[in-house]
Amino acid sequence: MEEQDPYELAAEAAKVLAEATGVENHDVVLVLGSGWAAAADGLGDVVADVGLDELPGFPAPTVLGHRNLARSLKVGEKSVLVLGGRAHLYEGHSAATAVHGVRTAIAAGCETVILTNAAGGLNPAWQDGQPVLISDQLNLTGTSPMVGPAPSVGLPVHFVDLTEAYSSRLRDIAKEVDPSLPEGIYAGLLGGAFETPAEVRMFQLLGANLVGMSTVLEAIAARHLGAEVLGISLVTNAAAGISEVELDHEDVLTVAAESGPRIMALLREILERL
Ligand code: HPA
Repeated sequence: MEEQDPYELAAEAAKVLAEATGVENHDVVLVLGSGWAAAADGLGDVVADVGLDELPGFPAPTVLGHRNLARSLKVGEKSVLVLGGRAHLYEGHSAATAVHGVRTAIAAGCETVILTNAAGGLNPAWQDGQPVLISDQLNLTGTSPMVGPAPSVGLPVHFVDLTEAYSSRLRDIAKEVDPSLPEGIYAGLLGGAFETPAEVRMFQLLGANLVGMSTVLEAIAARHLGAEVLGISLVTNAAAGISEVELDHEDVLTVAAESGPRIMALLREILERL
């Protein structure tokens, strides 16, 4: 069976989303990383909740710390779509499935994409619970959402410029909210296991400051379709070899939960300024 064109599938999902939420156009999408789910509560006035599995092309999230929910919020004048779960490569999903949420949101009108994640910190000075603005990325997954047949007619071609993968304008807005926010380069890996200390030393040599298992493909897909991207990592642990303890997904979620109020306030104030 031939696979459905991913852009057509995103357009279909955007149509179902508009019908299910009663919101014709969303302005901003917020993709919540591991442990960020609680940050969606209290961000704005809830307009509608839709199960992600009701939308075409969305697999149900399997990873603890993710929610099976798309939530439409009103924050000031803006309609904000919050995606409570994301599909990762390490769950066995394709790059196209991993970026389907972002493509759907852009088909639904979003011109701003906020990607959040939990990450290991490569800067020993960062405490657990430190939010970091992503300034650039290393896509070390070995794949890309731009692999495959040429995008459908009417869409930009394969070769997307990634000079400004993460918008400096949006980072400036985030820094107006919290001038103490550091910036870092995010290395995105296939994942499924945490890294070895030798790998972490290699990523340091490559200039990375953060390491994680998501985000990089979504940023590429968003830039391809012309959206502006803000990326925020929550450092939930020092990376392997820097951390004095073994890494554990439960600890990642605990740190994220403890940081909930801070990251919720940060996101709310950023959303209000967009
Ligand atoms: N490595 C990769 N992904 C992560 C980490 C890490 O140390 N912490 C949270 N997500």
